[in-house]
Amino acid sequence: MEFITYEQQDFVGIITINRPKALNALNSSVLEELDKTLEQVDLANTRCLILTGAGDKSFVAGADIGEMSTLTKAEGEAFGKKGNDVFRKLETFPIPVIAAINGFALGGGCEIAMSCDIRICSDNAVFGQPEVGLGITPGFGGTQRLARTVGVGMAKQMIYTGRNIKSDEAFRIGLVNAVYSQEELMDAAKKLASTISMNAPIAVRNCKKAINDGLQVDMDAAIVIEEKLFGDCFETEDQKAGMGNFLEKDKEKKLKIVPFQNK
Ligand code: CAA
Repeated sequence: MEFITYEQQDFVGIITINRPKALNALNSSVLEELDKTLEQVDLANTRCLILTGAGDKSFVAGADIGEMSTLTKAEGEAFGKKGNDVFRKLETFPIPVIAAINGFALGGGCEIAMSCDIRICSDNAVFGQPEVGLGITPGFGGTQRLARTVGVGMAKQMIYTGRNIKSDEAFRIGLVNAVYSQEELMDAAKKLASTISMNAPIAVRNCKKAINDGLQVDMDAAIVIEEKLFGDCFETEDQKAGMGNFLEKDKEKKLKIVPFQNK
């Protein structure tokens, strides 16, 4: 791959968008490689992903403006679909994805971050949906996910003005869960991913699915989704080991790490 690197550390997979000359902007090749990378993740041995950008200046500075500049209406729509399809794959990926946002997260960069389950950023991060200044709307899910993430009023203000916000404001409005120094960001992301990976993988996956699917329907239907995914955890090795471990009164055993399975 030319623009994506993938590294496995224990149960954690680290995806790096690596196009630093263009501040990791998303052209068609980057999107295609990201799609392939997700297809190739070994889900039997991976429990959490981290998505980040190469370099210390930018996470992703948006969709590639050069590539978009000559598109027709039909090509523009197809380019939007290409990004949306990959971002939706990320959003519905069976295991949690943490965005470690190490700088500019503009346009498609903010949008890809919002397709991840959890966002943490460095103190030099800058967020925004500047598309209206380029004569377009956000096109990789920004009009939908920003409103769902920070609320309709704040999303409309950010999108209509195209104004960028810094990390402290992103934290204040709930766009990111935490802000770290540049040096600390990746360690924090790995620690978070590792904590998630220590928990029962089937339960974690089912939690992601329950939250995602439940948000799309009314509460009565959402509760049924939860019931099914809750029930689905029973009789698994994870459930037997997790509960058995608690019920054994032996303190030593209670504290031991449960050898969770992926089945
Ligand atoms: N597309 C293509 N190239 C980009 C890019 C982008 N989105 N963002 C940065 N680059 C390139 C620049 O053209 C430049 O390349 P050259 O060295 O070959 O000239 C290189 O990255 C470095 O960028 P700058 O010299 O501009 O760096 P800077 O530090 O002065 O500014 C910046 C950084 C504020 C992020 C500025 O690059 C910028 O404003 N970039 C565009 C941000 C943007 O508008 N993003 C939204 C794109 S639209 C979108 O994403 C649509 C969608 O929803 C699908």
